[in-house]
Amino acid sequence: MSYPLTAPAALEPPVEWPELRRTCPVAHVTLPSGDRATLLTRYGDVRLALSDPRLSRAGLARPDAARITAIETGSIFDSPMARALNAEGPDRWRRMVGKWFTAKRMRALVPRIEAMADRLVDDMLEYGHPADLVRHLAFPLPVYVICDMLGVPESERDAFKNWSDIFLNLSKYTAAEMEAAHRDFGAYMSGLVDEKRQAPRDDLISQLIAATDAEGRPMSDLALAATGQALLLAGHETTAGFITTMAAVLLADRDRWERLLLDRSLIRSAVEEVLRYEPYPGFGMLRYVHEDTEVPSGALLAQGTTVVCSMAAANRDAAAFGGAEEMDLGRTPNAHLAFGAGPHSCLGQPLARTEMQTVLGVLLRRLPGLDLAVAPAQLRRVEGLITTPLRELPVRW
Ligand code: HEM
Repeated sequence: MSYPLTAPAALEPPVEWPELRRTCPVAHVTLPSGDRATLLTRYGDVRLALSDPRLSRAGLARPDAARITAIETGSIFDSPMARALNAEGPDRWRRMVGKWFTAKRMRALVPRIEAMADRLVDDMLEYGHPADLVRHLAFPLPVYVICDMLGVPESERDAFKNWSDIFLNLSKYTAAEMEAAHRDFGAYMSGLVDEKRQAPRDDLISQLIAATDAEGRPMSDLALAATGQALLLAGHETTAGFITTMAAVLLADRDRWERLLLDRSLIRSAVEEVLRYEPYPGFGMLRYVHEDTEVPSGALLAQGTTVVCSMAAANRDAAAFGGAEEMDLGRTPNAHLAFGAGPHSCLGQPLARTEMQTVLGVLLRRLPGLDLAVAPAQLRRVEGLITTPLRELPVRW
């Protein structure tokens, strides 16, 4: 079977998922490179593979690990950024950056995110309908939030948006454009680090400059600059994609939207349910198997195998979620795997949640009559590098 699987429509999951989960939870697949890998689709198996120390992401650098594509498309995995963070020690970097995402800080961010979303909605209203929710809200907002977190001034936000677009669209830009973007971004971030060193503020870069690890070592200047790019790459397209999916799935069935209009206390659980329900398969997360490992469905993952963990397929597993194919906006508990699991699970998940909840609140307040301007079947996905977001989401109000 070739992987990735295709979905029949933008808001529908691949037809193969139920059958795979039921009869072939550990499936042999061929990746676009021609390399063989093992696809996991059951909740228990995916959860274990993502978090068990016998499997790792670092192992994917081994020569016998499967590659997604034959040509190494992405300079991001071999960019100065990646090298700087590896030199820093990814675990150490994670511990230092992770301290930023406290509940207190996330609460304090809400009014700022709200103000940014309100302004974007103002511009969209001025533009008039039908408008593209991706261009007007879902794509810019997460970049603005990351800029705010890094301490980048408002005047530079659009430059960040363009850089991010270049980093994420490997096929749309030439190698020279890509190189120039990496160079300009690196130079900008180094300047920002110098500036924060002179005049620290209440932002992540200033905090990281002042921070030391358990051994008293500070983060290198190169890694400080690379942190900006890493967070932009990890937190932009993903969040933009989920804000778009959220609006799409909630509007595709008007009852869902109406239910939220009547009861805003459902916003939190609705966001979790959107994360679980995300119909599009995406690629999933790869892991390399270092030691033979038995997964809960009973199969053995042999040493040397590359596994593809389909979190989206696992999130529809009826063994883990009652009424798994239905959206239940009040679902609790909801231990979905959209942010992964284990030591590499999403570092920015408190921020992603805060953004999604805040945007949903703003949309319900400002645009209660929001609706899709096209039939759900007409929505199209764009093959992204990290996620596969909707190309555009035409809306009216
Ligand atoms: C809805 C939005 C998001 C989704 C669905 C998402 C999903 C994920 C997933 C599945 C992983 C795990 C990768 C793995 O297991 O190999 C991950 C890692 C990561 N995410 Fe997110 N993410 C989102 C938003 C963000 C945001 C807003 C940030 C920060 C600004 C962020 C920062 C990171 C970082 C730094 C990692 C790497 C953690 C590590 O390797 O230790 N993410 N994300």
